[in-house]
Amino acid sequence: MISKFLQENDYEEGTAAKHFFFSAIVMLNIGVLMALGTSLRLAWPDILPNDIPWLHFGRIRPVHVHFVIFGWISMAFAGAMCYMTPALCKRSLWSERLGTWNCWAWNLGMVAVFFTLINGLTTGREYQDLIWPLDIYVIVFIFVPLAVNIWMTMLTRKAHGMYVTLWFFGAALLFIILSYFIGAVPDFFPVTGLAEAYMTWWHAHNILGLWITPVSAAIAYYIIPKVSGNTLYSHKIGHLHFWSIVAFYSTPGAHHLMAAPIPEWLKSFASVSGVLIMIPALAFVVNMLMTMKDKWYMFTQSIPLQWALTGVLFAIPLNIQGAFQQTRALNWYIHGSHWIVAHAHLALLGFSSFIEIGAIYYGLPKLLKRELYSQKLARIHFWMMAIGFLGFWSVLTAAGLVQGAAKVYEIPYIQSVAATHPYMVGRVIFGAMIIFAQPIFLYNMYMTAKYGKKLEPRTQGATATVVAA
Ligand code: HEM
Repeated sequence: MISKFLQENDYEEGTAAKHFFFSAIVMLNIGVLMALGTSLRLAWPDILPNDIPWLHFGRIRPVHVHFVIFGWISMAFAGAMCYMTPALCKRSLWSERLGTWNCWAWNLGMVAVFFTLINGLTTGREYQDLIWPLDIYVIVFIFVPLAVNIWMTMLTRKAHGMYVTLWFFGAALLFIILSYFIGAVPDFFPVTGLAEAYMTWWHAHNILGLWITPVSAAIAYYIIPKVSGNTLYSHKIGHLHFWSIVAFYSTPGAHHLMAAPIPEWLKSFASVSGVLIMIPALAFVVNMLMTMKDKWYMFTQSIPLQWALTGVLFAIPLNIQGAFQQTRALNWYIHGSHWIVAHAHLALLGFSSFIEIGAIYYGLPKLLKRELYSQKLARIHFWMMAIGFLGFWSVLTAAGLVQGAAKVYEIPYIQSVAATHPYMVGRVIFGAMIIFAQPIFLYNMYMTAKYGKKLEPRTQGATATVVAA
């Protein structure tokens, strides 16, 4: 009966995906605005009034992190899943009604996230900061309904076989529910000390390795063949990518705790399995770049391709850096420095966000049945993000090396803080380019919905042919 109610056809096809894509762009704007506060604080600690707790670094930072990860990136994923899964399954979304409600429940959850974190109500655990019962709300009203909708669409598919994008979507939804639940366990059971730290970082690493990395890759697997018109270079390499992520990506959580007194064997295990992450990373990048064979001229012509391929190219330094910075030889030097923050942004802002933005430039106009309002604004958006991000990453990486050197030469910490001041100012400047690029994105998409030229019926909708045989 519930299933019948959910499948009543009173929502137009694509409603859920449209809701998710627009919500994601709003979340991105809020998330980066929060980052302006954090980065200003790190450059000039007294620039914002100190007597307003809402403006303290420790309050704004978790809001920034939550809004970009669970607001922007995860809602963009939900939009992509609701758009691409029906296309690849050759049927409509199992329940547009469930998808649309899921999106409103998600937005409501983000309002609660904002007010709890900004008021200092937090568990203090990275990527699992939400207090009870908000942590359970995230599982029950955000991830489970999304998973049910996507899995049911796959189970009732009319397409023969499952393209690799669906493998990643289906598995990542299971991983995020399991990981989020395990990360929340210290809220109900007396897990404390090192065990709590280990569980927290196991979960935090899985948010990156079993949610953000595979779903971003899955989206690229869809867009790049689709827009370039080439078939995927190799399905076998796609499968190698999938299984090696499953095998190696859930194990290196302890590499976040290389300086903590956890068992030495656990650190070595994390280090070695972390280097093995190079296997899925190489498989993905090679597969995507080879799919572009003879079509590289499209890089400058197609806006979605330009974004998605730039994201794929960022995966190269990301994975080389990621694999080696967690070996003991390098980790002691850069641990706890701005280098790590640069790496985190290379993953989430460089690699992942560029791919999601590509997905939105590709999917949203089609869902709206309109042409993109302004190609020029989309190009400005791209260059502001690309230049802003490269500058941002470079200054933070350099600041991390300065901090590492200060540690080696046992220079008083406060001197290293003073030495990194110019780099913090650099982050504000480059960060501002990224921040001010996002209202342009929102405006362009709003204008597309309102005034974009209507598409001919032939090019409408998400009813894609399966990307490759
Ligand atoms: C889509 C865009 C963005 C994403 C996905 C993102 C993601 C993240 C993540 C995951 C962290 C935690 C990093 C860690 O502790 O290792 C973080 C922290 C931070 N981000 Fe962002 N970020 C984005 C944009 C920005 C922008 C534009 C700025 C600068 C204006 C910025 C400034 C910061 C600052 C200052 C921190 C705190 C760093 C610290 O604790 O030392 N972020 N961000």
